[in-house]
Amino acid sequence: MTPLDQHFDAICDALTGPGWLVIPDFLDATSVGELHQLAQQRREQFNRAGVGREAGHQVHNDIRGDSVLWVDNDDPAMLAANARMAALQQQLNRELFLGLAELEWHFASYPAGAFYQRHLDQHRNQDTRVVTVVQYLNPQWQASDGGQLRLYLDDAQHVDVTPHGGTLVVFMANRFEHEVLPATRERVSLTGWYRRRAI
Ligand code: OGA
Ligand code: MN
Repeated sequence: MTPLDQHFDAICDALTGPGWLVIPDFLDATSVGELHQLAQQRREQFNRAGVGREAGHQVHNDIRGDSVLWVDNDDPAMLAANARMAALQQQLNRELFLGLAELEWHFASYPAGAFYQRHLDQHRNQDTRVVTVVQYLNPQWQASDGGQLRLYLDDAQHVDVTPHGGTLVVFMANRFEHEVLPATRERVSLTGWYRRRAI
């Protein structure tokens, strides 16, 4: 059984119910290490992340301080990672009829002290992002290193997710505002969105 098969029912139940789920150790330590190393090797190709789309796209350190590198869904170095995400997309479509057409995802690196202010994962006037999926690639991360994902739930409560290597977070993109708290060391993730086609 692949890690995905093992977790698939829980992901479906969560997305149709509370709308979010955290799975610690979704990725094994070897995969975390390999993907983390890949991010380090490609360090030069990362670009400062911006806010807004197309002409309105601007870098704002006071809103978000990460740098990103978009993943090519055919990248030979990411065959297993892409296959996992493709399988999840297929299953979500089969079971939940979400009509997910594609996955867009990127590596994200937050230097020490960087954060991402509270936001919703949808651009204004465009709601094609359906499900957010985040996988953390930080070996040996301690809660005291910070960098928590703070997810604001429907009832004005929040939950803080520590970005331990291998942890997966999934949530409905249009439903939960969230923020990334600053960390004391570099924080690396793979963050993506299953989208439906724009109409
Ligand atoms: C994002 C985001 C969360 C995280 O990139 O939009 O909110 O925990 N990332 O990295
Ligand atoms: Mn976000």
